[in-house]
Amino acid sequence: MKNLGILLSGRGSNFEAIAKNATSGKIPDARIVMVISNKPAAEGLEIARRLGLTALVISSKGKEREEHDREVVAALKEQKVDLVCLAGYMRLLSPWFVQQFPRRILNIHPSLLPAFPGLEAQEQAFAYGVKVAGCTVHFVDEELDHGPIIVQKAIPVLDTDDEHSLAARILEQEHIAYSEAIGIVLTGNYEIVGRRLNQK
Ligand code: GRF
Repeated sequence: MKNLGILLSGRGSNFEAIAKNATSGKIPDARIVMVISNKPAAEGLEIARRLGLTALVISSKGKEREEHDREVVAALKEQKVDLVCLAGYMRLLSPWFVQQFPRRILNIHPSLLPAFPGLEAQEQAFAYGVKVAGCTVHFVDEELDHGPIIVQKAIPVLDTDDEHSLAARILEQEHIAYSEAIGIVLTGNYEIVGRRLNQK
């Protein structure tokens, strides 16, 4: 059984989808052992409590990045977390944090990277006029929205879309993509060559 640790800052819908798929066995041999938010008001904490999961607030307010990261990593290690899943975690990890879990930190981003990294990716994509949008699950490295790609899902942008309907359809794909990516990483049947992840 592999232990997942979730980091979030807000709504928590990706976390909830992962939780559901871990419980149902869609993500085999995995369980969420803790949810950490840097924001006390994150709705994701409520979901965690409702699901009976350990939910921790480690506030980042007024802390240096690495000081905060040290507290988070200590909590993750105490619970013997094997895989760290960033799910709407609105903080850049320090290089030190990344080194504590080599190729063991995943992130989801609501665009087809490398297009539109950073904030409000769906709005950026819509305003740019793209005809295809989507989401990316990738390993976390020291750069923002940057590490090797594990799974991408693409959807067409419809003429009837606005940025809200587009974001909602991307989110549906996110909920599928994240669990798929976790499954790939946990089975270990892949190799990474340069930036490319190839499934074996
Ligand atoms: C998602 O769009 C995710 O791709 C991005 O932040 C958002 C988090 O949503 N990184 P939720 O908290 O999982 O509902």
